[in-house]
Amino acid sequence: MDARELKIEAARVALTHVEDGMKLGIGTGTTAAEFVRLLAKRVAEGLRITGVATSERTAALCRELGVAVASLDDEPRLDLTIDGADEIDPALALVKGGGGALLREKIVASASARMIVIADRSKMVETLGHFPLPIEVNRFGLKATEIAIAEAAEKLGLAGPLTLRVTNGAPFVTDGGHFIVDASFGRIPETRALSDALNAIPGVVEHGLFLGLASAAVVAGADGVETVYPAR
Ligand code: A5P
Repeated sequence: MDARELKIEAARVALTHVEDGMKLGIGTGTTAAEFVRLLAKRVAEGLRITGVATSERTAALCRELGVAVASLDDEPRLDLTIDGADEIDPALALVKGGGGALLREKIVASASARMIVIADRSKMVETLGHFPLPIEVNRFGLKATEIAIAEAAEKLGLAGPLTLRVTNGAPFVTDGGHFIVDASFGRIPETRALSDALNAIPGVVEHGLFLGLASAAVVAGADGVETVYPAR
């Protein structure tokens, strides 16, 4: 199976957790897009859900495929969110934001009773941090915020390049109108400590460490699909 087929398999199994009448958070990224395509077929067959998208991109795909989306203000409490991830550790701590939607993704996941992550097995890691950590920052005072991030990381023994995300020659701008700094720390053994330190920096809007949010991960590999629960 190629990478796309694995994403479809994970999405297919996650879809079995979606029940008629659910209020559903809908993730962002290539794996989440496969989920939207399968969800759209079920909706066309009569499944009734109220969807809340985690990005403008996902909202547009939903509308294009006939899945109606509500705003989180319309539906502030959700039953389930299904979303992808860039890295997943055994406790189901995640790195997210490779697609730039981490702020809305975290708001939607936090508003959900459950979050199921969908991924191919390559996303499973022992320790987070090989994938650069996306940090959403306010445009104002970018340099000062970068210095504060580097200092906070250094106190935790972390170091590595902080790279302003650029697409088509210009800084990438999130749905919230912010920039993203990708932090290449290599390993993040103390995820809670880094999360707290980043949250304490005024210019940091949000970061891509998702701790204690995922209730399960549906992981597809060449040998089949496995549902993983957080290791204690
Ligand atoms: C979007 O901002 C991200 O959090 C994605 O969920 C994550 O990057 C996974 O994307 P893929 O499914 O495309 O790997």
